[in-house]
Amino acid sequence: MKFTYVNPTQIQFGQGQIQSINSIIPQGSKVIVIYGGGSIKRNGVYDQVSAALQGYDWVEFSGVEPNPTKETLDKAVSIVKEKGIDFILAVGGGSVIDGSKYVAAASHYDGDGWDIMIGKHPVSSAVPLGAILTLPATGSESNMGAVITKAETHDKLPFMTPHVQPKFAVMDPDVMKTLPERQLVNGIVDAWVHVCEQYLTNVHGAMVQDGYAEALLKNLKELGEEFENRDNDAWRANLMWNANQALNGLIGSGVPHDWATHMIGHEFTALWGVDHARSLAIVQPSLLRNQFAVKKAKLEQMGKNVFGLSESETLAEQTIDAIEAFYQSLGVTTEFNEYQGSKNDAVEAVVSQLEQHGMVALGENQAITLDQSRNILASAIA
Ligand code: NZQ
Ligand code: ZN
Repeated sequence: MKFTYVNPTQIQFGQGQIQSINSIIPQGSKVIVIYGGGSIKRNGVYDQVSAALQGYDWVEFSGVEPNPTKETLDKAVSIVKEKGIDFILAVGGGSVIDGSKYVAAASHYDGDGWDIMIGKHPVSSAVPLGAILTLPATGSESNMGAVITKAETHDKLPFMTPHVQPKFAVMDPDVMKTLPERQLVNGIVDAWVHVCEQYLTNVHGAMVQDGYAEALLKNLKELGEEFENRDNDAWRANLMWNANQALNGLIGSGVPHDWATHMIGHEFTALWGVDHARSLAIVQPSLLRNQFAVKKAKLEQMGKNVFGLSESETLAEQTIDAIEAFYQSLGVTTEFNEYQGSKNDAVEAVVSQLEQHGMVALGENQAITLDQSRNILASAIA
């Protein structure tokens, strides 16, 4: 094990924490508040943010869509540049926070912001940003990643740079009260797969990372099992903190990472608009079966330590079945059938996108070639 670990995002967790931003955002900052389609106007979050920003010079930018697009975000980049904004406040879920990260980096660049996504412009600075999280799922509020879509070409690509790591993240579980059931389920599934991407690889013996990953998986499983009784402070707070810890860098330090489910899943979102979390549930069980031989030992460990299954010849298979059953128990389908035309065309459409995006050797062993992706898709697509 060899790694550097730092997570510099200041966490403001708990009820009533939104007001605390006025002691964190530097006084005298010119702030832009970036948000989505308006849920924050309906649930009182916008009013709390306005109250907390009293005394600051601030403007707002709304309309960041789920799976945020470069086309929309470039309008915010223009405002930041024109008005000399020096602090970005993202108020929303992963899409708004990711979109704000793009705005932060693109505003310090004279060219087309998309250059950042295709690696043509290495980010060396960004406008500082903070986040008020309204949907626990992605972990974006305290990590350095973002995923942006170019609507024109159906490209959905990730970028990572420490320059866009939020300075602070406000996590008030009360904001979750207005989340539709669908988004709460998405949060559980996305966080679950984030842990899997950093845990279900090979046996490496890193006890802290494995043990903490297993604790998070057990918690998420319990929150899923308690879904019917979710309307309480503890359930909300636990989901919010679990989803954050699943992708804040800690469990991924010094261990192999997979992320193939995510990369293939992104293409389902880019092509057919499938919710991010739901794209993962479609891909992952088929991917685990495809990569069975190399993941067998870790699947057995997960079966025992997360699902409480007993030792047997078929333990690894049973673990994949249990993961699939978990998604299905939340009403999340593990097979995709919402395409038009033939199944073969749908499979090839995804393969072609993967090829265009250079996703030709995925997974912890770079063993998921386009041919393997094709096999995975043949079972993930109905
Ligand atoms: O736009 P508004 O009106 O705010 O409505 C949103 C949106 O329609 C709504 N919502 C959010 N908070 C709410 C609420 N509705 C009622 N009450 C609230 N408190 O929920 C809808 C979905 O929001 P979105 O931000 O799209 O969801 P999520 O947080 O799941 O983010 C998904 C995006 O994050 C990316 C995904 O690819 C996708 O684009 N990811 C980012 C990652 C990262 N930065 O580390 C990692 C993830 O793997 C993921 O790829
Ligand atoms: Zn995800």
